[in-house]
Amino acid sequence: MTLLKLFLIFLLQNLFLMKEIQGTIGYSSPSNIALVKYWGKHGFQVPMNPSLSMTLENCRSNTRVHYHTGVEQGGLEQVLFNGQESSDLQSKLGSWLEHISVFLPWLPTTRLRVETVNNFPHAAGIASSASGMSALAMCIAGIARHLGQLPESHPWAFTGHMARLGSGSACRSLQGPYMLWGQTHALENASDEYAVVVDQVHPLFQHLHDTIIVVDQQPKAVSSRAGHGLMDMHPYRSARISQAHYNLDRLLQAMYSGDWPVFESVVENEALSLHALMMSSEQGPLLWKGSTVEWMHYLRAIRRELQIPMAFTLDAGANLHLLYPDEARHQVLDLLQNAPLAALDFIHDHTGMGARCESDDRP
Ligand code: PMV
Repeated sequence: MTLLKLFLIFLLQNLFLMKEIQGTIGYSSPSNIALVKYWGKHGFQVPMNPSLSMTLENCRSNTRVHYHTGVEQGGLEQVLFNGQESSDLQSKLGSWLEHISVFLPWLPTTRLRVETVNNFPHAAGIASSASGMSALAMCIAGIARHLGQLPESHPWAFTGHMARLGSGSACRSLQGPYMLWGQTHALENASDEYAVVVDQVHPLFQHLHDTIIVVDQQPKAVSSRAGHGLMDMHPYRSARISQAHYNLDRLLQAMYSGDWPVFESVVENEALSLHALMMSSEQGPLLWKGSTVEWMHYLRAIRRELQIPMAFTLDAGANLHLLYPDEARHQVLDLLQNAPLAALDFIHDHTGMGARCESDDRP
């Protein structure tokens, strides 16, 4: 390469780094619930096994980012979470921004202020890191687009990669109704770096409901980071990897062909396996409450009796997610209202299509 070419590249880079624009961009992004669970990772947020999730619609984070690019001293000036300054979140986001600056060279010369609000209750068994990090990744991608720095040939992969580095499951919230993250031979375009849409599912699965049965509102007993760490030395690690691949294959086949019984059996097997893995790990966290177990028994018994298509799953907590197709809606709502068990709340949600832009203002 000639010296002149090198000089031109240097000039272009610097011109681009100093391009000064400012504005406010806002995205709303939903949470998701995993049907095949992501539990265990290696390297830098690389999943131990592939996972598949249902994107929710109603439980969302609404995030606004005020930005000013091309300044001398960039950085994250302020983070407001549900209207309050949060130094914890600010330092978490600060290190995430540092990581993603590797492929966003304009970030160190950009000043940012972030405001994020969740429209669902805290500690209700709904992953707020998935909705929050995916909304924020969309905002950052939006700024990159304004700077002509979003790779237009694969914007979802680029944004998913960013979201994943903030919180693994966040890359599964960008689109919907179902997302797969992690390498598998079952889907050609699947990747460890970002999630891809699972489309062409049978009409039975195109619109699923998820009612979250809230039985406990304590903050998470085990952080995601510590939880994933429990898989590093887990005695069942390699068996879990095989099981996740096997369950993913079966789940995908069931979703393509409309096979509810297989769907139900895989989804519940995954939920119980996630908790069994936790309980059988070194520190043995037991996240269920008595009412979690009572609800599982009750749901299985009434399903057997009334032959209702429904399946429960659990996140890393005590609350249940009850999934059912549209045709079972009235029956399920009825049985929940009349159940002989207590719940603190029922939160009703359903399949959604992921993140959406709410505002994009440039003065
Ligand atoms: O994305 P993280 O690091 O919060 O991990 C999510 C882990 C589970 O919610 C338990 C399972 C999953 O696949 O979402």
